[in-house]
Amino acid sequence: MFRSGSFVIAVAGSALFAIGVRGKDNGLAITPQMGWDNWNALGCDVSEDLLVQTANLIVDYGLRDLGYHYVILDDCWSSGRNASSNNSLIPDTTKFPRGMAAVADDIHALNLGFGMYSDAGRYTCGMYEGSLGHETVDANSFAEWGVDYLKYDNCYNEGYAGNQLISSTRYRTMGDALNATGRPILYSLCNWGEDYPWNWGSTVANSWRISGDIFDDWDAYDARCPCEGPDAWNCELPGFHCSVTNIFNKVAFIVSKAQPGAWNDLDMLEVGNGAMTDPEYVAHFSMWSAVKSPLIMGNDLRDIAPQDLSILSNAAVIAVNQDPLGQSAARRWLCHGNGTNGESGGSGIQLWSGNLKGTVHEDYNDYVVLLVNGNNNATVMNATLEDIFVDSGPRGHAPQVDMSWEVRDLWAGRMSNETAQAIIDASAVASNTTNGYNATTITSGGNATAIFDNRYNATAMSYADGLAANNSILLGSVTTTVQPSGTLTANVDRHGAAMFRLRAIPTAVRKRDEL
Ligand code: GAL
Repeated sequence: MFRSGSFVIAVAGSALFAIGVRGKDNGLAITPQMGWDNWNALGCDVSEDLLVQTANLIVDYGLRDLGYHYVILDDCWSSGRNASSNNSLIPDTTKFPRGMAAVADDIHALNLGFGMYSDAGRYTCGMYEGSLGHETVDANSFAEWGVDYLKYDNCYNEGYAGNQLISSTRYRTMGDALNATGRPILYSLCNWGEDYPWNWGSTVANSWRISGDIFDDWDAYDARCPCEGPDAWNCELPGFHCSVTNIFNKVAFIVSKAQPGAWNDLDMLEVGNGAMTDPEYVAHFSMWSAVKSPLIMGNDLRDIAPQDLSILSNAAVIAVNQDPLGQSAARRWLCHGNGTNGESGGSGIQLWSGNLKGTVHEDYNDYVVLLVNGNNNATVMNATLEDIFVDSGPRGHAPQVDMSWEVRDLWAGRMSNETAQAIIDASAVASNTTNGYNATTITSGGNATAIFDNRYNATAMSYADGLAANNSILLGSVTTTVQPSGTLTANVDRHGAAMFRLRAIPTAVRKRDEL
């Protein structure tokens, strides 16, 4: 039973006087965390086999070496508390016959991290035991089992919400308990944006959800996810069944809250879950990457289609997400899809841009440009240098407007479906052989294909180092240039996106500059 009296005292006490190690000071998530979570595709259908098989597929498919590190077990894994052992949580022995430590060991043996789920309430959302009032004993169990990541939900919080102080204190209790274990455990808040976690999340945790649950749909209206539309902000009712467009609109107002160690979480990816088109999934992945959301795959990897593996494997886009500067892109303009330009309605077109660290120019950073077409027709979109660089000077006064830029289309080097299929087939071979699996060269259709030759390996070289070394897989190739005061133009699919890296073209030093 939770003691409400002592909780109120704790609220005042810890908020005003406690100076302790905060979640974000755990040294983790310096770039947004990447991984996989079972919830979006599989809900409560969890088991040891699912996690271990998925971990192996993450390795086989080259996803680990692209940075997807955490294998996260969501809700529905426990079966009560053990009264004779500090009331600690008991894993469901039908689903996890060897216990959680054995699962963690298997995942660690593959050089991956193990994530688990609990809830800052009496029960989890699936009505299993929650951790409210049991923070220390549960944090200790997680640490003993070898857990590297905790997703911490918000159901059945017994009314301990309603303002930022109450919610932040409730979440801080678990953050402090995790830190006290001495084991680095990435702390991922899942309170759906309730009580504005972007204001306090960075002092408590490594990321915070900004909305109700994502739904595998581009822009469907659903009254259960209120605050719909481009001007939705400070939403008080998180709801659920939130479309990609709905969530993206919400992050537009809080992009500046993202920072190394603490990120806006737009929720797990829906890429590969089947209800969106390929351009919609391309746009979804691009949008989440540009605003530095955690990239947590949410599909069933045992049944992945090649085009979805190809999206999730785009290292040039991931390099934007993992950029060492850790700044979110920002929305520069949005035009509503009102049909005036011949389009047939939709959620409008938008330009986003932002700073990236990678550069060859001593004074000017690279820039990411994201053009999103939410309208119901394919369209030509134009982004002027003036709009792209507006943060560096208004109305065309940014020095970058007077420069020339290389334009690198970050989807131009997308892996072909044939290659993706060969990777998938190779793994199926691996699971049927006792001789193990050689991930560098496989035989597909009778031809030996070096399928991993053209793939980025972030295990061997971090994204930061790869960018500093001008790795061509991360940069993409130059597809066009933009001249001073010029405009970047792109054809963008219906419900699609185009994404570019702009890199300054060094200009010859003029004589008078040397004087
Ligand atoms: C929701 C949460 C989901 C998932 C689910 C499990 O509250 O936002 O991501 O974890 O609970 O029951």
